[in-house]
Amino acid sequence: MVRVAIIGATGYTGAESIEILLRHNRAQIAYLTALKDLGIISEIFPQFKGRCDMAVEPLDLEKLRDCADVALCCLPHKVSMEYVPKLLATGVKVVDYSADYRLKCTSAYEKYYSTEHTDKDNLSKAAFGLPELFREKIRGANLVANPGCFPTGASLGLAPLLKNKLVSLKGIIVNAVSGTSGAGKTPSAAFHFPNMNEDLFAYGVGVHRHSPEIEQIASEVAGENVEILFQPHVGPFDRGIFSSIYCDPKKEMNQLELIELYRDFYKAEPFVRVLDNPVHIKHVAHTNYCHIFPTFVKGKVVVFSAIDNLIKGASGQAIQNMNILFGINEMEGLR
Ligand SMILES: NC(=O)c1ccc[n+]([C@@H]2O[C@H](COP(=O)([O-])OP(=O)(O)OC[C@H]3O[C@@H](n4cnc5c(N)ncnc54)[C@H](OP(=O)(O)O)[C@@H]3O)[C@@H](O)[C@H]2O)c1
Repeated sequence: MVRVAIIGATGYTGAESIEILLRHNRAQIAYLTALKDLGIISEIFPQFKGRCDMAVEPLDLEKLRDCADVALCCLPHKVSMEYVPKLLATGVKVVDYSADYRLKCTSAYEKYYSTEHTDKDNLSKAAFGLPELFREKIRGANLVANPGCFPTGASLGLAPLLKNKLVSLKGIIVNAVSGTSGAGKTPSAAFHFPNMNEDLFAYGVGVHRHSPEIEQIASEVAGENVEILFQPHVGPFDRGIFSSIYCDPKKEMNQLELIELYRDFYKAEPFVRVLDNPVHIKHVAHTNYCHIFPTFVKGKVVVFSAIDNLIKGASGQAIQNMNILFGINEMEGLR
């Protein structure tokens, strides 16, 4: 059994991670930590009553060293890079959910996150945890940077086109909508129910933090520099990310060939389904699946992708990565 600590267990992604681990046959929850919301986890999240009644404690590194093999680090960015070096020093493997170990270019990190990167040593060693594209690098890692939710949906939608050099690398647009759980548990005026309910708006116009991450993945897959116009929106639903991706084709293809290309690219992937019709966030809610529908509209390739931001966009993908790290079937806990 792999012994799992959840650092930041009282947040949205921490709770989703507990839920998945309770179904996992090869891993067990060993330690739950937080900063302010301490107590019994099933009193904080009553859905765990009788299923997980463990204490949530402040992090004690000696205890972590004794009780865990891996830490799922569900902390906010900037906070993560204070904790991760200490977690790694105890000998556990770490899957980090934050943005702190995703961007290889520290100047991009410092520009988009307005802070100096304080753990460049571990940043250079971190594997980027998008299994469908970088599985081999994840396998031997001690630290996995779990991707952002928008970058997961966008990259899985774009990768077959970029890898096969089928679209122009100029003028790619990713237009995406997230549910409100993407913002985490801390309340804010914009997400207050009467404000958010029946509303939908664009945010981070031209400056969203996931832009450089989407471009980093796209450039690695394409083998050359790719610039992408990424525009996120938030809509009045709890969970899900719906992305519409627009590109200019470089090669003549018909609809059947396009679908076949995607099916072939993802044929060995347990969590990517290529559909013949537009995708829905409801169809992937509470699952680790990404649904993709590629098509042509007025001479452009248009790809729609849908994921659950809390599962394939965070906790599910993290546990998929944990499974890879420990040689466990990737679908364990996520079926
Ligand atoms: N939400 C999503 O859809 C999503 C998707 C992909 C990636 N992520 C990333 O995953 C991470 C967690 O997101 P979330 O939505 O779960 O956030 P959240 O709901 O705000 O939860 C944050 C957790 O971190 C703990 N925490 C905060 N500051 C801390 C500190 N200084 N020291 C120790 N613990 C601290 C909180 O503990 P207390 O109970 O003590 O406050 C809480 O358990 C973030 O980096 C986020 O960007 C989130």
